[in-house]
Amino acid sequence: MAELKSTDLKMERRVIPGSIDTVFEFDYSVQAEDMRSLYEKAKRDQWNASRDIAWDTSEPSDGRVLSDELVDIHGSRIWTSLSEKDRVDLNRRIAAWRLSVLVYGEQGAMLACSQMVNIVQGTDEKFFQATQVMDEARHNEVLERYIQTRLGGLHYPMPDNERVLFDAILTDPRWYIKTIALQLVAETFAVAIFKMMGEAAADPLLRQVCTRILQDESRHMGFGMLALPDIVREASDAERREMEDFTCLALEKVLTGFFPLEAYRDVGFSRAQIEEVKVYRRDVAARNDYAVYRKFFKRDMHTSMVNNLARIGLLTERVRPRLSALGIELPAPAA
Ligand SMILES: [Fe+2]
Ligand SMILES: [Fe+2]
Repeated sequence: MAELKSTDLKMERRVIPGSIDTVFEFDYSVQAEDMRSLYEKAKRDQWNASRDIAWDTSEPSDGRVLSDELVDIHGSRIWTSLSEKDRVDLNRRIAAWRLSVLVYGEQGAMLACSQMVNIVQGTDEKFFQATQVMDEARHNEVLERYIQTRLGGLHYPMPDNERVLFDAILTDPRWYIKTIALQLVAETFAVAIFKMMGEAAADPLLRQVCTRILQDESRHMGFGMLALPDIVREASDAERREMEDFTCLALEKVLTGFFPLEAYRDVGFSRAQIEEVKVYRRDVAARNDYAVYRKFFKRDMHTSMVNNLARIGLLTERVRPRLSALGIELPAPAA
């Protein structure tokens, strides 16, 4: 394939100041059996990105990474007017843009979980978080290898929303705030994207990568579902409101503002054309007519994230209007 070039901004490393408490445990007996069995599952199900992915899988002959229906202007007037070469180029760049967001998310998840090893109380919780650090390192590694293998190492910069969300996660000293935003909101969102990409991948290698990553994710959400209910139940009203607000903030950050502007720009779209793309996307969203989104995405977001958050008690009547603005409708309150 032709090499992908970008008017790329090279991202430097980022230093985020902060401080956390480290809890040193002396009792290593099993205290929380469910948590310990999640740790056992994590040890049993480790995989190796070097060994368990067939990196020599051949590439689709046209160079597509995703099915075209995942390109958000697919079917629009602009799409119809594009040459085959530009369609393939856009397909690859949108893939690079989305995978960049995901690879930064994996780095952020690894860092947040390494903090949680320190902060959480209980040996079982610490052991489990130690496994998640390894899992997220592997996800970071496998996605980077995919980007290098198939997309010539093309990365797009970290979107503002993602940076703001991870800054909040990584600077808050409380583990449960990190868990709400990471294990419940961000990871459920990532699961929906990996499922969508895996099912609609044009490249069988991408399908393998997504399938492997997804094997680890249900454990990560499992940590939140095991660890959070007690803390939510015991929270004061003020603490609970803070948790609800943080949940909404995390939802707002993951559900809005992810527009692959740089991918369109690099294919050669003019400013006016990019505006047209944005209008098209807004129209489609307003008509609730985004077939792919409906098919792959809403299903996962609603069945897993919203139900889980509601079950834990983090989505209440008080935040109904904020959720409504995001297209999330809570079930009617019990009469
Ligand atoms: Fe991950
Ligand atoms: Fe994860």
